[in-house]
Amino acid sequence: MKTWTGILFLGVLISLGTHAHAEGTTPERQIETFMRLSGMRPNAVNGQDFFTSKHGREWSCSSCHTADPTVLGKHVKTGKVIQPMAPAANPERFTDAAKTEKWFRRNCGDVLGRECTPEEKADVLTWLASLKK
Ligand code: HEC
Repeated sequence: MKTWTGILFLGVLISLGTHAHAEGTTPERQIETFMRLSGMRPNAVNGQDFFTSKHGREWSCSSCHTADPTVLGKHVKTGKVIQPMAPAANPERFTDAAKTEKWFRRNCGDVLGRECTPEEKADVLTWLASLKK
């Protein structure tokens, strides 16, 4: 299982690396940053669990982003359409570190009542980046 996750993660890094943007950041660079901060190897399965589960409050991440992040989401409160979270379906995802941080802070606050840890962020991003359209 550990080896499988490692191979998946490496595959993601390689495939995303070839599509890296000229400016801004990339999903895999953000994963590396969170991984360095957490000191843990990211786990896509944990990321999916985290994203689709409630954490003692009303909403999960998938309440707005859906449990299939390759499709359009919908804000649970305002009904506004949210572009897909998976980079395979939306190349603009995770290419702006300030945007990623801002929304992690806001959404983790809504869903968990606290900020997400670097380990949780690395897990979620690794799962999202592993999805195919
Ligand atoms: C109440 C609705 C809602 C919930 C619940 C929610 N989000 Fe979001 N999320 C949004 C909106 C709105 C945006 C900003 C619009 C966009 O980027 O398309 C966003 C954007 C993001 C981004 C920015 C991605 C980027 O492009 O860099 C991240 C990261 C994110 N959400 C993670 C999460 C995580 C993790 C959870 C669960 C802890 C979560 N969201 C739960 C509504 C939500």
